[in-house]
Amino acid sequence: MPPADNVMEKLVSLAKRRGFVFQSSEIYGGLGSVWDYGPLGVELKKNIKERWWRSMVHEREDIEGLDAAILMHPKVWEASGHVAGFTDPLVDCKQCKNRFRADDPRLKGPPGDPNTKCPVCGNKGTLTAPRMFNLMFKTFMGPVEEQAAMIYLLPETAQGSYVNYLNVLQSSRQKIPFGIAQIGKAFRNEITPGNFIFRTREFEQMEMQFFVKPGSDGEWFEFWRAERLKWLQGLGIRAERLRWHQHGKDELAHYAKDAYDIEYEFPFGWQEFEGIHNRTDFDLSRHQEHSGKKLEYVDTATNERFVPYVIETSAGADRTALVVMCDAYHEDDVEGEKRVVLRFRPSLAPLKAAVFPLVNKDGMPELARKLYDALRGQFNVFYDDGGSIGRRYRRQDEAGTPFGITVDGQSTQDGTVTVRDRDTLKQDRVDSGRLVDYLRDKLAG
Ligand code: GAP
Repeated sequence: MPPADNVMEKLVSLAKRRGFVFQSSEIYGGLGSVWDYGPLGVELKKNIKERWWRSMVHEREDIEGLDAAILMHPKVWEASGHVAGFTDPLVDCKQCKNRFRADDPRLKGPPGDPNTKCPVCGNKGTLTAPRMFNLMFKTFMGPVEEQAAMIYLLPETAQGSYVNYLNVLQSSRQKIPFGIAQIGKAFRNEITPGNFIFRTREFEQMEMQFFVKPGSDGEWFEFWRAERLKWLQGLGIRAERLRWHQHGKDELAHYAKDAYDIEYEFPFGWQEFEGIHNRTDFDLSRHQEHSGKKLEYVDTATNERFVPYVIETSAGADRTALVVMCDAYHEDDVEGEKRVVLRFRPSLAPLKAAVFPLVNKDGMPELARKLYDALRGQFNVFYDDGGSIGRRYRRQDEAGTPFGITVDGQSTQDGTVTVRDRDTLKQDRVDSGRLVDYLRDKLAG
């Protein structure tokens, strides 16, 4: 493997070259820490989200899906504690006007101290004392831009599940314990965003809120920790690059009694990409208080009334996609030549196969096209007749396409094709009539 610091650079460049991720509004110089997903990236992220949804909503009878709006009543964010507490301490340089987080490692010395230097312009004593800065994006609803019309873009999808908790409970006729799952956009005006799609200002979350009886929360917390790890292992992520980090008292979010991060060893170090949180009855109690609506659960068997506790599993779809990309990135040596390959688990790969005519003559393109048309209805496949076959294989290796199907001279005689395996580089000769079954078998899992 190449040195770690190089890998991110190479991955960002591959992501652009092959159409995974582009900088937002690039032709205007880009928009800070906002990224767009290209043709392959959108498929990869969609495959991850679909897998999550299947395991959370379709395969479980005790979890319901929800898609709450991004714009919510501003009181939601007062009740949730985000207006008062979703803040980072910031420092300004009065000279060069740059802004930093107060814990920015480049700051040598306490901000506000006359001897502390600005890490950008180098002037001494120009940094202000830390001031709190709210990370929520604000906008206005309706025609008048005034304080009363101010609303926020949601910084987590969780609150949509809390304010709809009764609606979902009553309409689905679930009983506690049960959960609400959502996949949706979230926005945070991060001050030190960076590391490609790791920390961005607009991102997607895959969150599930599991409502339980107080007292059973510890057990469910452990249950969901185990389930989430199992799910991640199902993505094919190397176990030695995953670890748990339990939040210390000073790290816990304002709503949490206990929290574990799942961390991945990215090329830039160990970082969180999913969290399991015991949010107690904090959110529902606060919404009950602020809305004046009772959010108690009545256990009809025992007549007990209680505000449920919530165990939350919260994953970033973009960070999970970055984990999958980093974990898949390999550089091989094939017969003395360097090969860059993304070894995605086949079920996650954006393209499942590519179809190539060996040469553009002797009936091969016609046959290859026919095969491509037949496969397209079943799988996301790609047709490529440009350049040498070696170059076409390399392009698909970089895209992470697990199978390369080549139509050659023999194909026009007996209807067989070669299927090259991205990882072993072995080629099978397969009857083209059996291709769909052959691929389906290989893509399972
Ligand atoms: N509802 C709880 C919650 O939002 P969080 O730890 O703040 O918890 C959960 O965020 C997940 O959302 C993170 O583990 C990460 O994957 C993703 N996430 C958070 N902020 C992000 C950002 N600025 N850019 C990309 N993903 C982010």
